[in-house]
Amino acid sequence: MKHILIDCDTGIDDSIAILYALKSKTLHVEGFTTVYGNTSSHQAAENTLRLIKLSKCGYEIPVVLGANQNLDGEYGPIPIYIHGDNGIGNVELPKSEQQLRKESAPDFIISKANELQGDLTIVALGRLTNIALALEKDPRLPYKVKNMIVMGGTIGKPGNVNPYAEANIYGDARAADIVFRAGFHMIVVGLDVTTETYLSGHDISVLEKYCDVENRDIVQYIKSALKFYFKFNYESTGCQDRCVVHDPLAMLIAENPSIGEYRMMRAAVEYENKEFRGMIKTDERFISDYNHDEILYCIRVDSDLAIRRLLSVF
Ligand code: BDR
Ligand code: CA
Repeated sequence: MKHILIDCDTGIDDSIAILYALKSKTLHVEGFTTVYGNTSSHQAAENTLRLIKLSKCGYEIPVVLGANQNLDGEYGPIPIYIHGDNGIGNVELPKSEQQLRKESAPDFIISKANELQGDLTIVALGRLTNIALALEKDPRLPYKVKNMIVMGGTIGKPGNVNPYAEANIYGDARAADIVFRAGFHMIVVGLDVTTETYLSGHDISVLEKYCDVENRDIVQYIKSALKFYFKFNYESTGCQDRCVVHDPLAMLIAENPSIGEYRMMRAAVEYENKEFRGMIKTDERFISDYNHDEILYCIRVDSDLAIRRLLSVF
């Protein structure tokens, strides 16, 4: 069993990754911390509470409210045209009775790492603000966790915010630079692989037909939320009735990295130069200091296997 802490900005693709984790027999979710991005941190927490309820996962999971601005004090713009007004495609899920855990996100991350004594995997699906703030409090954090999986960045594909940068990294490039240099055993799952992996309307019809009876509500939710997401994907890529798979792919890799191929590299993130903000600077380009550890950057993935695995838990 893998013990994971999910840091997320609970939008549509985060929500599918979360539901996957909650239904997976090999993942145990130790807690959630939220961050602004697809929606406000507060709305992300609200969505997460409702998704836990929807999943009927059978165990209690703390949800902790995290950063609502990046390290430079910026908030927004919130991409409501991608994830809807409430972050989950305007789908109204039933409210949960569960309350938020009253603790700061960095403290919660640190205490979970201490509690699990080297057995915690952090899965970061949004901006890296909470992780950077936790590092500020405890620079030994990278040596206390097993590893960290980050959805973010691009090295070979165009960015989705500017030509060089992906949204999670761009949104708090300063935090990303701190985290990339901190010494985590880290896998980065970026646009190089997430934009090569597609979930289609056909996949969802198959799921509707063959899902477990107990997961029918989950599948109906995924179908409705994806309707909104497919529309954005069509408008931005011209691809009809399908979407790229960002956060769920990172979650699948967190569960079992063998679906990907990796390149080991030292990397940092540009945060000062406005034009290149959010660009990952690898040691294949110019990077001014190399005195930090290497990370694994996912360069290829078995997309068919990934989609089959994703659907299989439901
Ligand atoms: C990333 O940005 C967010 O919109 C998605 O949830 C994903 O984490 C993709 O660039
Ligand atoms: Ca996300």
